[in-house]
Amino acid sequence: MTRIALVTGGSRGIGAAISEALKAQGCTVAATYAGNDEKAAAFTKETGIKTYKWNVGDYEACKAGIAQIEADLGPVDILVNNAGITRDAPFHKMTPQHWHEVMDTNLNGVFNMTHNVWNGMRERKFGRIVTISSINGQKGQFAQANYAATKAADIGFTKALAQEGARAGITVNVVAPGYINTEMMSTIPEKVMNEVILPQIPVGRLGEASEIARAVAFLASDDAGFITGSTLSANGGQYMS
Ligand code: CAA
Repeated sequence: MTRIALVTGGSRGIGAAISEALKAQGCTVAATYAGNDEKAAAFTKETGIKTYKWNVGDYEACKAGIAQIEADLGPVDILVNNAGITRDAPFHKMTPQHWHEVMDTNLNGVFNMTHNVWNGMRERKFGRIVTISSINGQKGQFAQANYAATKAADIGFTKALAQEGARAGITVNVVAPGYINTEMMSTIPEKVMNEVILPQIPVGRLGEASEIARAVAFLASDDAGFITGSTLSANGGQYMS
């Protein structure tokens, strides 16, 4: 049976790797993106995966976008909440704007997307929700009070919703990546990366997006029906919870 999968932020970075892994697993995949039309068009051209543009922080945009995808491809069986941003600053320099931008995308986005696929999954008695959290939601991180708050919230959200979805055939899980070799790392000063972050990773390297995608594809598969409410950490041994 071909499953329909929707990946937010699915045309770049970890999201692109997830979209491709789900496609390789036999899913029909739709990927959302927020801003970069050129990259999204190139991704569609290269992979054949359709891309749709909207801001996951906007509830009505999520509702309309999901309705469009369901009209184009069919009901969404798998939702991967991957879209996320950073606005890093030490707390004494963090502005309300830094705080709210991260809340809107990383946390409200998870609500907006999940809420708009939930009833359909309940009616069809099947669903897979996988949310991309972060090691920094598990252990905290200097300059990320905003980001860490949203990524910790993903875990509470997932544990609550897993209980509600269980009888309806819906599993709800988290994948918590460590430091992965994507564009997001380019905001970290080189000195901080080399002297602070890399020495804390026991495997001695950043992770690859494909290594996160494989974990997501497993949790999204029909085979993973007994796994729900879990947090799968993929961080090279940097933090063991
Ligand atoms: N851990 C420990 N110390 C850190 C640090 C970190 N990750 N990042 C910065 N610092 C230190 C700096 O080395 C510097 O110390 P010194 O003054 O002793 O040199 C100090 O904090 C910087 O303080 P400033 O007040 O000057 O900070 P700033 O206003 O210039 O802000 C910054 C700089 C935004 C904090 C920048 O250093 C930065 O981006 N750091 C990286 C933060 C980080 O690790 N973010 C994680 C991104 S990865 C991610 O989010 C993906 C994921 O899920 C894993």
